[in-house]
Amino acid sequence: MIKFVCAKDYDEMSRKAANVISAQMVMKANSVLGLATGSTPIGTYACLVERYEKGDLDFSKITSVNLDEYKGLTHDNDQSYYYFMNDNLFSKVNIDLNNTYVPDGTIEDSAEACAKYDEIVRATGGVDLQLLGLGHNGHIGFNEPAEVFPKGTHCVTLAQSTIDANARFFASKEEVPTQAYTMGIQTIMNAKKILMVVSGADKADIVAKAFFGDVTPNVPASILQLHQDVTIVGDEAAFSKIKDMI
Ligand code: GLP
Repeated sequence: MIKFVCAKDYDEMSRKAANVISAQMVMKANSVLGLATGSTPIGTYACLVERYEKGDLDFSKITSVNLDEYKGLTHDNDQSYYYFMNDNLFSKVNIDLNNTYVPDGTIEDSAEACAKYDEIVRATGGVDLQLLGLGHNGHIGFNEPAEVFPKGTHCVTLAQSTIDANARFFASKEEVPTQAYTMGIQTIMNAKKILMVVSGADKADIVAKAFFGDVTPNVPASILQLHQDVTIVGDEAAFSKIKDMI
């Protein structure tokens, strides 16, 4: 079941999403959090850091598993998702870095990197709350539109539209890696709860298609219609095409 939570703008969306994550952490101090990158969750992480600084949140028993990573980027590359997580969250809260996991983009052998990550996720005992963003083509993590829903962690060749969208973070389009490691759809669906954040008018079409259209691997996020506990926090612009249906 999908519950839509509408916020007036990006800041309110970020606070409301942080509320959901905070509630999870308060109810279960040793939660396994599935974390996401991209520009949308940055405000959510900033809210969590603020609450940690106020003394309202404790990350000491939290374990985190990230969705994805560019293949070939080293940890000190400021565009790697490893770097992003340290920069936006891990270095600012009291999480034990030994309990934080991001797929290792430096492993050249894809089969080895993916098997290793599936084992890490399995060993956590399962994700309690999975945070997700939404790509313009409906991708979640880096699960691009495909013929089937991929199950476990796998290596993907990024869609040109994803490379174009993410080029804004790199010095040039040529520097955007063309491949990535991502958790599979089954792993994402195995999370007990899912929290998606969406912001901006440019996401309005894909929000309508993914959550009010057919469930199809051509729109990977559409699978979330079949999950029992999904909360989508979006701002008015992102929900503009579905506002009469929620
Ligand atoms: C990226 C990430 C996704 C993210 C998505 C949307 O490619 N791999 O995890 O959700 O694109 O990004 P943004 O939030 O910047 O729109």
